[in-house]
Amino acid sequence: MSELSVNHLLGIKYLQKEDIELIFQTADHFKEVINRPIKKVPSLRDITIANLFFENSTRTRLSFELAEKRLSADVINFSAASSSVKKGETLIDTVSNILSMKVDMVVMRHPNPGAGIFLSRHVNASIVNAGDGAHEHPTQALLDSYSIREKLGGVEGKKVVIVGDILHSRVALSNIFALKLQGAQVKVCGPKTLIPKYIESLGVEVEPNLRKALEWCDVANMLRVQNERMDISYFPSTREYIQLFGLNKAMLDSLSKKIVIMHPGPINRGVEITSDVADSDQAIILDQVQNGVAVRMAVIYLLASKIKQ
Ligand code: CP
Repeated sequence: MSELSVNHLLGIKYLQKEDIELIFQTADHFKEVINRPIKKVPSLRDITIANLFFENSTRTRLSFELAEKRLSADVINFSAASSSVKKGETLIDTVSNILSMKVDMVVMRHPNPGAGIFLSRHVNASIVNAGDGAHEHPTQALLDSYSIREKLGGVEGKKVVIVGDILHSRVALSNIFALKLQGAQVKVCGPKTLIPKYIESLGVEVEPNLRKALEWCDVANMLRVQNERMDISYFPSTREYIQLFGLNKAMLDSLSKKIVIMHPGPINRGVEITSDVADSDQAIILDQVQNGVAVRMAVIYLLASKIKQ
């Protein structure tokens, strides 16, 4: 495969296994580029990209902007908090105005699930979903799989447990799609109230006991409890959550093998993982962030190649 099967990156659900392989091969090249003294290539000098963030972000926003600049694209940034959205402008009007300034690609984070899909049907630009509500976060899942591949030599056959708030997590859903597509085995672990009822239809097993889940896996992806997406209480107390689903160093060290610890960030230190786990040599959390730039360079480069045709 020499090009992506899609014109937008709206979700992992719409990708084929070969798309992921192509993105990873391209990311390998860009990872080598960003480790050179001159970390930039002229590939996208003729492309303009708008980063539209309707929801808070640290990693994804900076990572996309850096990826675009490393590819020499022209970049404009938009934050809903300081925009005319506050005066009542609609999503389509906002984006149409931005695109009339000759923008080729839109990277968008939005609180509403499906916002990127909606936009792709109404505007003439390539759309990259940087997280849409509790739906998908495709580039996070790609960088997560890329980091597993880098650490363990591949994703196929690996055992991955995703721990925590699965119900509200776009990272969990995109990871499940990506991992299953590449032939990994996936389990989820968390409070029953935070496990979606449809989860087994995705080919995922539920393991309610954290120790059993950790003894089974090669990789544990520890998710944050997304209080901002909860309108009711899903478990009795944070203290009880920590006791049942928080990972501390004593438990990590007591396992029969050394597992890899991942976290998409932002971390609530002392809740889903303790600081000594987050900072341990088994955690690849900062490698994930570093790989995010190369993976996003690959996604943008491959989508831009389709615009240029
Ligand atoms: N992992 C992630 O999406 O982090 P941000 O919300 O900081 O972008």
